[in-house]
Order: sequence, then structure tokens, then C-alpha cells
Amino acid sequence: MSSNQEFLDHINKGYITKGDFITLGAAMHNGETITNAHVKVPLKTLNRHGLIAGATGTGKTKTLQVLAENLSEQGIPVLLMDIKGDLSGLAAASPGHSKIDERHEKIGIPFEAKDFPVEILSLSDQDGVRLRATVSEFGPVLFSRILDVTETQAGIIAIIFKYCDDNKLPLLDLKDLKKVLQFATREGKEELEKDYGRISTASTGAILRKIVELEQQGAELFFGERSFEVQDLCRVDDDGRGFINIIRLTDIQDKPKLFSTFMLSLLAEVYSTFPEQGDSGRPELIIFLDEAHLIFKQASNALMDQIESIVKLIRSKGVGLYFVTQNPTDVPDGVLGQLGLKVQHALRAFTAKDRKAIKLTAENYPISEYYNTTEVLTSLGIGEALVSALDEKGRPTPLAATMLRAPMSRMDILSENELKDLLKKSSLSKKYNKDIDRESAYEILNEKIEKAEAEEAKAAAKKEREKLNKRSSSSRSRSRKSSTTEKAVIKVLTSATFIRGALGVLNKLLR
Ligand SMILES: Nc1ncnc2c1ncn2[C@@H]1O[C@H](COP(=O)(O)OP(=O)(O)O)[C@@H](O)[C@H]1O
Ligand SMILES: [Mg+2]
Repeated sequence: MSSNQEFLDHINKGYITKGDFITLGAAMHNGETITNAHVKVPLKTLNRHGLIAGATGTGKTKTLQVLAENLSEQGIPVLLMDIKGDLSGLAAASPGHSKIDERHEKIGIPFEAKDFPVEILSLSDQDGVRLRATVSEFGPVLFSRILDVTETQAGIIAIIFKYCDDNKLPLLDLKDLKKVLQFATREGKEELEKDYGRISTASTGAILRKIVELEQQGAELFFGERSFEVQDLCRVDDDGRGFINIIRLTDIQDKPKLFSTFMLSLLAEVYSTFPEQGDSGRPELIIFLDEAHLIFKQASNALMDQIESIVKLIRSKGVGLYFVTQNPTDVPDGVLGQLGLKVQHALRAFTAKDRKAIKLTAENYPISEYYNTTEVLTSLGIGEALVSALDEKGRPTPLAATMLRAPMSRMDILSENELKDLLKKSSLSKKYNKDIDRESAYEILNEKIEKAEAEEAKAAAKKEREKLNKRSSSSRSRSRKSSTTEKAVIKVLTSATFIRGALGVLNKLLR
């Protein structure tokens, strides 16, 4: 059996870095933590994406917290998708614990308690900086993907976007889009048919139903202004520490469609706005997705393809994506094959299926003469994990069963009051938390329809008058005239009432 000294040399040699790095902890050998056998990840390879996996309660979320803290300290901004709502503690310093001190003594890094610059964001109206996007910004392609419509319907969505573009009708929220879709087969039928071809009521009906489905997941809160500028995720505080942006998603766990809609739009937006990075040696932004299986499980094939290609492309923008999930098999192969950093916490072998999954997982790690990987996978303690990273040259580092450092911030969540105080301090909330409903397609089209109808009514009345003038009785003419005007008014009223009624029903459904 090799000596601890030999193992220490093996790790130190395998984890040499010239540039900046973050330290995850110290490697373990024969169940013993080898002090100063530091397992380090160079900043340079952090845009190569990663995975944090392991059974429930093995320490995945804390590993995420440790990574986020260390990135922040290096001036790298972080975005966390907090599905369970257990990450707000990053904003408060750890109260410390004798067990934590013991852990750090073994690792060979003194423990420091610290709080971090945190910004809480939200997709809904719960406390946090509101994240919104306009329908126009989504564009017809992404929007069709999200709605999961047929090709014909996607074609119609493209026409609707084009029509709105050509006619300066801003599509801000779903109300706007629904209005134009209705308009296209009613009042605007002739106008659209002339320039863009026929649009069938069956197709717009089907699209409208899909939009309602999206709305039922609360999407109307997400679409609209003021739309979030992704550059705001890249802020650094006065001390040069990167902001840790936490998106609280506790209330949309059961709304996978809304969640993946948002994820995709965000990644697409990051991809299109961030400059190409070349070889800068450090990432621009690191995104962590806790409980990532929730997205993958529910995503349509079209969405999966989109995620896979974005994962591939976004690297060049200096953005690293980290998936946190129970089983590596939760992550699709196309994504799994692209991951640079792997932190594998303990897996449990209850069933034959579990054992198979463990064997498969072990095979995906570099071979090591120091470990029996399958055995280690089931015997790791809490806050310990098998780590394989990429060195600065992009080669896999030696496999290391690692005693991970403890978070410097609080391992528990913030209280309601602490959260409120945090939001009060937030400069982003001042920028984004105002409801704006500026004039957009909905209002413009309504006005147009009303004007057309009023004109129609006027013309009809005029005709009626002329007809009546030819007759002798003037008293009858007055009553006829009023009845025609009434009809027109009722028509305008019905369309407005219909829309209001429909929105009312939706509001109730959403509550
Ligand atoms: N790196 C660590 N340092 C200290 N304690 C840890 C560490 N990782 C995990 N723990 C302990 O284990 C518990 C569960 O960790 P958590 O990250 O929530 O698990 P998971 O996300 O895998 O379900 C934590 O509340 C904490 O007490
Ligand atoms: Mg967790």
C-alpha cells in the first residue's frame, strides 16, 4: 500500500496551477484526510461546465455554496437557481461550529466566517428583484419552441411577429400576443390575408390554447416590462467580490414549462449579449442549477436540443453551467459528455438498479491506482465527494476523494426579516420592481378596432338617415337611427367584455 506522503505528492503534482484557482478541500487516502493535499480547480477551466451529483443529504447544495463563495471572492459573479429555497444563507456569515473547525484543520485551510454580496431575484411576485422579458425579445422561434406548437402554427407565430414588426405594434406581454392572434382572424383578417396569406381560425385557436396553458403556470407575471438586462448579473461589489444572484424558484417547482421557458430565454439572452471571450483565463459568469433533474425530466425534445446546443455554445462567452442533481444519469448524455468538473457525492446502493447506476457512474471517472471507485462512491461521508477536474491544459486531474471545505456563510436560510432587509438594500429592485404597462399591441389594436367600428357605425347611420330622408315620417327616423348606433356600441362592448371576461377567468385560474 502506498504511503500518505506518496499520495500527497501525487495530488500536489496533479493539481498544480499557474493562474488563479479555487480550492475545494483536501484529498483523502485510505479513509484519512491528507492535510494540504489540496484539490484545486483553475479559474481558466471553469467555463467548461460541471456536475455536482449525489444522493439526498450528501452535501450537494453545500458544495454549490462553497463554489459560489469562492468564485465571488475571486471577483466572479454567480447565478444560482434555488429550487428549494435553501441558499439565501449566503448573505449571512456562518455562526461557526467546532465540527467545522475540525474539518478545516484536517484540510489545512483556516476557517473564516463571512457573508457575501447577494441579490435575490424572482420570477413571480414573491420578494425579490423581478425577472421579466418581453414577448418581442423572445422572438418567434424561441416562443414557438416553448409553446411546443406544430410547424404550421410556428409559421403563423412568425407571421404575427412580422406583422407586429411591420406595423409598429410592440408585443410586450401575452395579452398583446393573444390580442393580435384574435385580430388576425377577425377584424384584421382581410388586411393580413392581403399581405401575409391566409391564417386559419383553427391554427390561431390552437396557439391561443397553448398560450393559456403557459399562463396557467403563471407566465403572465414573467412576460412584460421592464425586461431584465443580463449584464446586471455580472456586477461586482465595492470590494471586488462578484455578486451572487439567487433566483428563488420555490414557487415554480411544479411549473416546469415556465421554468424551462425562463431558463432557455436567459441562456439565449446571455449568449446573444455577452462578447466572445477568447482565452481570458477566467469565467465571466457561473450558473448553477440546483435540482436540475426537474428541468430535464419535463423538457420536450425540442427544448432538450436547444439546451444541448446552448451548453456547447455558451462556453465561448466565458459562461460555465453547473448542474446539481441526484444521479448523473438525470443529465442527458449530450450534456454529460461536455462537463469539465465533476463532484460526485455518495450514492446509495439499495436496489439492483442503484448498483447498476453506480457502476456506470464509476466508469465515467478517470482510473486511479489509489481508489476502487465503485467502493468509494458508496462509502463517502457527508460533505465528501469524488472530484475530477480539468487542469489548465484541459487534461483531467487525478481522481480525488475529497474532504470538502465548509461554507463560510450560513448553512441555513435567512429569516423573513433578513430577506426583507436585503431587498431594501438592493439597487436592482429599484430598477426592476415597478409595473409598467406602456401602450403596446393590445391597446393599439383595441383603439384601431374601436375606431373602425365607430366609423362603420357612422357610415351606417348616415346611410340610414339618407334612406329615411326619402321617407316622410321624421319620428320613425330617430328611433331607427338610435337602434343602429346601439348595435354598434353593443358590438364594441362585447369584444371588450369578452376580453375582460376571459382575463378574469384566467386570473381566477391562476390564483
Ligand atoms: N462541505 C460541508 N461542510 C460541512 N457540512 C456539510 C458540508 N456538506 C454537507 N454538510 C452537512 O450535510 C447537510 C446536508 O447537505 P446538503 O448540501 O443540503 O445536501 P444535499 O443538497 O445533497 O441534499 C448540511 O445541512 C450540512 O449539515
Ligand atoms: Mg440540496
